[in-house]
Amino acid sequence: MYRVAAIGGDGIGPEIIAVGKQVLDAASDKFGFEIVWEDFAIGADRYLETGDLLTEDDLNDLSAFRAIYFGAIGDERIAPGILEKGILLALRFYFDQYINLRPVKLLDGVWTPLAGKTPADIDFTIVRENTEDFYVGLGSRFTGREHREFSLSRDLYSVKFGLDVQSDSEEIAYQIGVLSREGSRRIVRYAFDCAAVRKRRLTSVDKANVLSDVYGLWRDVVHEVAAGYPTVSTEFSYVDAITMWFVKNPEWFDVVVTPNMFGDIITDLGAMIQGGLGLAPGGNINPDGTSMFEPIHGSAPKYKGLGVANPVATIWAGSMLLDHLGEHAAAAAVLSGIEKSIRDGVTTRDMGGDATTAGVGEAISRYILGGEV
Ligand code: IPM
Ligand code: MG
Repeated sequence: MYRVAAIGGDGIGPEIIAVGKQVLDAASDKFGFEIVWEDFAIGADRYLETGDLLTEDDLNDLSAFRAIYFGAIGDERIAPGILEKGILLALRFYFDQYINLRPVKLLDGVWTPLAGKTPADIDFTIVRENTEDFYVGLGSRFTGREHREFSLSRDLYSVKFGLDVQSDSEEIAYQIGVLSREGSRRIVRYAFDCAAVRKRRLTSVDKANVLSDVYGLWRDVVHEVAAGYPTVSTEFSYVDAITMWFVKNPEWFDVVVTPNMFGDIITDLGAMIQGGLGLAPGGNINPDGTSMFEPIHGSAPKYKGLGVANPVATIWAGSMLLDHLGEHAAAAAVLSGIEKSIRDGVTTRDMGGDATTAGVGEAISRYILGGEV
């Protein structure tokens, strides 16, 4: 028996999570375990009613779970950044979910914009660092002369910056990226562990030719960790170059490890080459704590309640959640169920079909329960 927290969130979030839960329930019935869900009403509606993004009670309650199933947040009534930073990033940081795992895999029957590429060519994993870099939230805008102090405290270090700004007429802004050796090491190790059981090739992404301090540290760590994995071949790619190679030679890649912000960017590219955002899942993982699984797309408010949202990314994230809990056979069946639904043409309209969000979930649940996958 597993207790799993569910946060539907905003827009299409609640409907895709409802469908995902149904599929995971089917998998648990079939494979002989039970999931007890606990729903959390976190998101835009509550924020507008109470002003709360995440409360201390939310965090205390959620920390009792090993896994959270997360839909999407984002709402047109609220300025961009508030829910993203106050809920999604806050959860990733609070639970120290330092691994953002994003498989890029073209499923059978899915159209890719890359001409001539097939599922045999597009099957790699992006391991994105999820707690550091330009996401640490250190920054400010200034007009005029000012002195400001910024500080950041983490378990292993704390930093403090003082800025004396002398700008009489011009407006300027700062945003500071921070990497730590230990923060880099733990994600790079995780990526090498993945590569060691896959095709044994690791590509590290950076921009060490320009941002040579932060990504110089990153590179040093990759070299250091690589020495412990002699069977894995290691290479480095600048972030600008890797966007070209993803398009030209996706078949080259196995495990790609990247600092946080470049990971944000290249995983949207990855999503597109695997068929679009409707097909791209992600896991925010803390191997010793509370992890969170979500589609990488947003809340798509204009499709809310229409039954047209593609639930595949969310169902696939659910498969990752089951894997994380150690239910590997059930996780594999969920992914096979997704593949079968695509082969059978049970797809939403973004993939050329006419199935509803719920219809896709029902088909996949039926395949699983009927032992067809
Ligand atoms: C993602 C998203 C988030 C990120 C936003 C919504 C904060 O783009 O999960 O990739 O930047 O990480
Ligand atoms: Mg993103």
